Amino acid sequence: MSATASDSIMETGTFVNCFLLVISLVIIPVNGGYDKERDALLKGTFPQDFIWSSATAAYQIEGAWNVSDKGPSVWDTLAHQDNNRDTGDVACDSYHKYPADIQLMKQMGLKYYRFSISWPRIFPTGEQQDGVNQDGVDYYNNLINELKANDIEPMVTLFHWDLPQALQDRYGGFLNNHTTNTTVIHDLFGDYARFCYQNFGDRVKYWITFNDPWIIALEGYGIGNFPPKHRDPAEGQYKAAHNIILSHAKAYHIYDDEFRAAQGGQVGITLNCDWGTPKTPADADAAIRYIQFSMGWFAHPIFKNGDYPEVMKTTMTRKAQEEGRTTSRLPEFTPEQKAYISGTGDFFGLNHYTTVEVIDTCCTPIENPSYDTDKDIGTGHAPDWPRAASSWLYVVPWGIRNLLGWIKEEYGDPDIYVTENGRSDHDQDPAIMMDMERICYYMMYTNEVMKASNLDSVKVKAYTAWSLLDNFEWLSGYSERFGLHYVDFNDPTRTRYPKASSVFFKQLVRNNGYPEGSEFTKYVENMWYFCHNTTEAEVNGYTGGASQISSLFSLFLAIPMMIAYSLIA
Ligand code: BGC
Repeated sequence: MSATASDSIMETGTFVNCFLLVISLVIIPVNGGYDKERDALLKGTFPQDFIWSSATAAYQIEGAWNVSDKGPSVWDTLAHQDNNRDTGDVACDSYHKYPADIQLMKQMGLKYYRFSISWPRIFPTGEQQDGVNQDGVDYYNNLINELKANDIEPMVTLFHWDLPQALQDRYGGFLNNHTTNTTVIHDLFGDYARFCYQNFGDRVKYWITFNDPWIIALEGYGIGNFPPKHRDPAEGQYKAAHNIILSHAKAYHIYDDEFRAAQGGQVGITLNCDWGTPKTPADADAAIRYIQFSMGWFAHPIFKNGDYPEVMKTTMTRKAQEEGRTTSRLPEFTPEQKAYISGTGDFFGLNHYTTVEVIDTCCTPIENPSYDTDKDIGTGHAPDWPRAASSWLYVVPWGIRNLLGWIKEEYGDPDIYVTENGRSDHDQDPAIMMDMERICYYMMYTNEVMKASNLDSVKVKAYTAWSLLDNFEWLSGYSERFGLHYVDFNDPTRTRYPKASSVFFKQLVRNNGYPEGSEFTKYVENMWYFCHNTTEAEVNGYTGGASQISSLFSLFLAIPMMIAYSLIA
């Protein structure tokens, strides 16, 4: 049975009690390296038409894994392979509770929502000729209609990792015959995209073909940790990526040729990338190699010239010689394919969470080559970077500004949509409802995005918080929580509870940044040194605790006031 939104939003009194209960558990992080100039708070606002959004993905929130005729995806298969694993069988049950999710967005004043469509919920086997699951189509129509009725624009991802299992079984998924121009998987992805444009494109104006192809290729077909768990570290990721890029181009051209004139929307792709900062000046080239081998692998063909980055091609040619191979493990695009791929992004979608330090390790000969060794680099983290719950997530706000500037310079100043950014907490008891560290993360990262926009003239048009809800965090299951809203996964009704960060985010959206003189900006100023794990006194060269205490004091006062204000607003 579907619950209503009002069931799902915790009552004010309970929330404040919960706040009082957990306030004592706020953890003060250890000192970090604050740079007075680089990390200073920028006051001002984003451009007026700036897009504030939050995101989710089908397998991570929908549940209803086998209702109606939905077919299994590769994630369903993996989740059911062993009994001790968390599954997405129910997840947040958004298949039934989407009206409640929409009310959460409305509460926060969000006008955009990024979600993904599950391919096997639409075509159970991935192929239209085998049948369409009308209930699945109805579900997405209802979701889109409900969003529009609440004045929220949908931004839709076509592929967020849940490949129909049948396509893996029949064609090897994205390994399918990767060197020809008539590969089945390209056409099938094209058919699926066309069906979505046909059925939803009258209301959906933002399409993202693939989410994080780097992860799909590397984890799914190279390292083999993610489904379909194909392990071929020397070549698998390069073959899969080749197919994904061509499938993306196909979906782009279908929109361009058949729908753009009537529907007037945009099609892009979302690439994930950490910022890579050189550990020493001698590691500068290695840091560029790090970015070219991750984001550049996909962005260079799509946004630059239809081909892989030069440094990737020369490195891989050298590797082939060292390994005694006649051809590179990196496949080649034909001239026709290059022309087909080049320019197939109306916007550049970016998922960014963290930064790594890069060390040059060139050029130790390797016996068993892999993507990891191909790059000839090592990665690490500075000792003073604070950490989130996810082992890979270090909090380095200035990294996003550098990365945005790099994209502007490298890819000809495209419109950039930040399609994900966020921070995880551990799943713990009592729950972290007063999620100060997430508030700090959003505060610091969005301020750096504003610096990119207002100081560096980067055309960054959107910022999307990951995630609207705590959800199924892939191999980590429900042990890591990224949500602005808490979901009780032991409660069959999957009640949602706003965390303090959702209140902060609401104020951020309402202020469209950090306007000079606003109450919100004053609050942020009080929090600034706390969030950077230092004190104003330390920054100014003094020692002593007074400043820290006063900043904490204002923190404890300000947040409950904001919560109370928001709940009565
Ligand atoms: C993915 C999300 C994932 C998040 C945190 C992103 O790159 O798109 O699905 O939950 O990373 O791991």
